[in-house]
Amino acid sequence: MNIIITGGAGFLGAKLSESLLLQFSEINSIKLVDRVQPSINLAANDKVQFITADITKSEEIAQIITEQTTHIFHLAAIVSSHAEEDFELGMLVNLKATELLLERCRHVNPKIRFIFSSSLAVFGGELPEKIDYMTAMQPSSSYGTQKAICELLVNDYARKGFVDALSVRLPTICIRPGSPNKAASSFVSSIIREPLKHEQSNCPVDIDLALWISSPNNVIKNIIHASQLNTSSLKGFRTINLPGLQTSPREMIACLIKKNGKPASELISYEKDINIESIVASWPKSMNNERELELGFSKDNNFTVILKEFLNTTN
Ligand SMILES: NC(=O)c1ccc[n+]([C@@H]2O[C@H](COP(=O)([O-])OP(=O)(O)OC[C@H]3O[C@@H](n4cnc5c(N)ncnc54)[C@H](O)[C@@H]3O)[C@@H](O)[C@H]2O)c1
Repeated sequence: MNIIITGGAGFLGAKLSESLLLQFSEINSIKLVDRVQPSINLAANDKVQFITADITKSEEIAQIITEQTTHIFHLAAIVSSHAEEDFELGMLVNLKATELLLERCRHVNPKIRFIFSSSLAVFGGELPEKIDYMTAMQPSSSYGTQKAICELLVNDYARKGFVDALSVRLPTICIRPGSPNKAASSFVSSIIREPLKHEQSNCPVDIDLALWISSPNNVIKNIIHASQLNTSSLKGFRTINLPGLQTSPREMIACLIKKNGKPASELISYEKDINIESIVASWPKSMNNERELELGFSKDNNFTVILKEFLNTTN
């Protein structure tokens, strides 16, 4: 296996590379591709190479994707609030770069398994209580629109036999380590993570807003499962709603109090931000994941277990 991970310096890229190396002895190389240098040394294993490149440039992509490439995990993106603020940058990175990557694969080797990281943000509008894989995409943000267009491209490139591509729609990942970022959902992790570091944090949405989340470990497991999936079982549209679980800021904060006592939760403020709330509230709150579970994807148990896992990795 010769693997490329775009967005390799990002949160999921780094974690994915570690998990792939643990799981597959047949890996020859992993190229971690990113515009910025990683904050930690990701290339400690001699199978891993870090490449600084801008995937919006076709000449740079041509240097990276070669006849030897077997798998691409396309994770590079401009996250939701950032893509909303900077429309041109979102279109360039979230849309144009995906098209360039697919085109390069088509010309180099149509057998490349290409995993595109999409998002819940492709949904919006009047959603049913529970969505499933047949629910129409009606994004309410530029980020969601860019992801939705890419899903259609991924599907068509696969249908034509140009690339062995599929898209996975990630739930909001929680609890994400590190610091807040420009994702509209950033608060979902920071209302727990920052108080645990004795830092202030704000919950910008209604405390009872239903959120559809998955732990970092479960998302990585599912992304890897997608890269190994027998696609003949998909019958048609090559998009997968990765399983998640429903929670709310209230339930998450209650778990935090149960685990760590009240003082940490007193560092949380509740100042509404209508821009953030309007984006996050437009996403699905619950899903029927029967089909995905049948396909072998996995789901988290509950938020208490997610919190425990996070505490084990940070302590
Ligand atoms: N984290 C979540 O909750 C979540 C939820 C749904 C979907 N996703 C999707 O999963 C993927 C990975 O998310 P993440 O949380 O690791 O994001 P991240 O922001 O940590 O990483 C994205 C990386 O892409 C890189 N990048 C941006 N523009 C680039 C360019 N032109 N060339 C090369 N690299 C570039 C960035 O430098 C960054 O390191 C993204 O596609 C995101 O949209 C994430």
